[in-house]
Amino acid sequence: MIRVFVILILTVAVGAFYYFVSLLAIPQVVPQVIPQKTKTSSSEKAPKFVSLTGKPLDLKKISFQSAETCKACHTDIYDEWKQSWMAKSSQNKMFQLSFQQWKAFAQRSSKFDENSCLSCHAPIGYITEDYQLQNSISREGVSCDVCHRVADVQEHDFFYSLVLDPGDTKYGPYSDAIENPFHKAKQGRAVSKSELCATCHLDSLPTSTDLRVPLEWTFQEWKESSYASEKRCQDCHMPTLKGKSADFPNAPVRKRFSHKFEGGHSDSSLLDKAAEVRVVSWSGTELLVEVHNKNVGHHFPTKGAHPTELILWVKARDDINDIVFQDRRSYKLHYLNAQGKIAGATEVVKSLRDETLKPKEKRQETFSTLSVPEKIVKWEVQLWYFLVPPQLEKFLGEENYQKHYRPVLIDKVDEVVGD
Ligand code: HEC
Ligand code: HEC
Ligand code: HEC
Ligand code: HEC
Ligand code: HEC
Repeated sequence: MIRVFVILILTVAVGAFYYFVSLLAIPQVVPQVIPQKTKTSSSEKAPKFVSLTGKPLDLKKISFQSAETCKACHTDIYDEWKQSWMAKSSQNKMFQLSFQQWKAFAQRSSKFDENSCLSCHAPIGYITEDYQLQNSISREGVSCDVCHRVADVQEHDFFYSLVLDPGDTKYGPYSDAIENPFHKAKQGRAVSKSELCATCHLDSLPTSTDLRVPLEWTFQEWKESSYASEKRCQDCHMPTLKGKSADFPNAPVRKRFSHKFEGGHSDSSLLDKAAEVRVVSWSGTELLVEVHNKNVGHHFPTKGAHPTELILWVKARDDINDIVFQDRRSYKLHYLNAQGKIAGATEVVKSLRDETLKPKEKRQETFSTLSVPEKIVKWEVQLWYFLVPPQLEKFLGEENYQKHYRPVLIDKVDEVVGD
């Protein structure tokens, strides 16, 4: 009996090596995509951090305050933030590994800023030029003071910079914060807008053509979607809670905001509800499946220099429960070289292959079983999310991988189609 098996490797055909290389390349290694003067807008060179006083130099003199200081009065927020990837952004193993690789590469090529990664992953270290992250505050990653000194943001072409207040005012969502002896408080112009998040969740490389290579594209995807007028980044990633915003005498009970910043790691509660699959029809020889990006406010997976991939996996069983057919579809952003092949980290990116699902998109996929002789009685349809390819487990460590990076089954349907 001929059994048609599509060899299904849940990882990617190109293999572990490419992925590790591309991972290590996250995100600025696409070296030949050198910004061309003619296509580089002047804003490309705008500094990422600007001082409210208008003098860039005094940024270095800001005495950033540690999250440990805020903890005394903002205990719940501190505890939430501490578990978040904001607090882990400079110390997590995956970042550390790729940052080391990037530095070695940048030193060899001498065209790139070897510390550029720190501008988002360890902004305090970057601003204070503590590139070795020797001061403990530099290792706090995206710490409280990075977001709460932001008096405003400045928009440039596909890029936003942060306007930081060097003084002792913290900018938050409230216009009526009660007084405290530690800091002044003001309602920020940017803190409650998605544009605050754009300062790190939007980054790209211009090329010599019209192509702009997305390194972090989440904000742009959101902005181009109907979510831009419905829900901010904060509405999904900082859900509201009720309670005191500060452990301080007379502090009122308010609407406050979770600082867990849950996202794409395996233990995130957002992933379960992100997308849905359903069987649209089965003709006896053709299966039609629909994948629906239901609750993600941007592309799924979001576009950027990440190895994240979504996989639709269908399996057919016969009356003795054997698998008689299986196939898959993948959703991911690929960089392509001049030959149209998936570009490795060190190739020129000439075009993109964008398979990602737009916000609210319903995509239909057809699977033909004409060559399957057995009678199919059951379909199993699954949608899997791979933050990283499984081959990385050995680099990330088993416990770390299992907790934060393991594949997640987003949705599944079992459909009995015959007897
Ligand atoms: C413009 C801001 C920005 C810059 C610059 C930047 N990153 Fe990131 N990085 C991010 C954001 C935002 C994420 C989360 C992306 C997501 O989940 O979609 C991220 C995620 C990552 C991750 C995944 C970490 C994990 O375990 O979750 C790695 C690794 C990483 N970046 C490495 C680097 C390296 C290496 C560089 C420098 C070559 C760099 N990044 C530069 C913003 C940045
Ligand atoms: C990535 C940016 C970011 C970081 C890091 C961050 N916050 Fe916030 N915080 C916000 C935003 C955005 C809001 C307002 C949310 C809204 O308007 O929907 C907020 C609100 C607040 C508020 C007032 C409302 C509330 O939820 O109680 C306080 C107080 C606060 N943050 C303190 C902190 C402290 C303390 C830390 C560090 C332990 C911290 N934040 C880290 C972005 C951040
Ligand atoms: C001595 C106690 C204390 C410390 C320490 C403290 N705060 Fe606050 N903070 C408060 C109080 C009280 C409020 C007002 C709460 C209210 O009105 O509900 C507040 C409010 C805020 C707000 C909201 C401002 C607004 O108008 O929306 C932010 C943001 C904030 N703090 C950030 C920080 C950060 C960041 C740190 C650490 C660098 C910090 N705080 C340390 C007591 C403190
Ligand atoms: C100063 C830079 C910076 C700002 C501002 C910033 N982020 Fe991030 N964000 C990062 C970096 C870096 C990461 C990647 C951390 C990692 O995995 O190493 C990240 C990761 C995330 C993640 C993914 C977490 C996960 O578990 O996968 C979410 C969600 C997120 N940010 C939401 C937000 C929101 C919402 C805002 C605006 C309120 C915001 N960020 C503002 C730098 C920033
Ligand atoms: C309608 C709700 C919604 C809105 C609005 C939204 N997100 Fe998300 N976001 C999600 C869900 C659900 C996930 C988990 C699925 C995934 O990883 O894409 C997610 C994942 C993420 C991740 C992790 C992606 C990854 O693959 O590691 C980042 C980073 C992120 N969001 C940032 C943002 C930023 C920045 C904004 C605003 C520009 C935003 N989100 C707006 C729902 C939302």
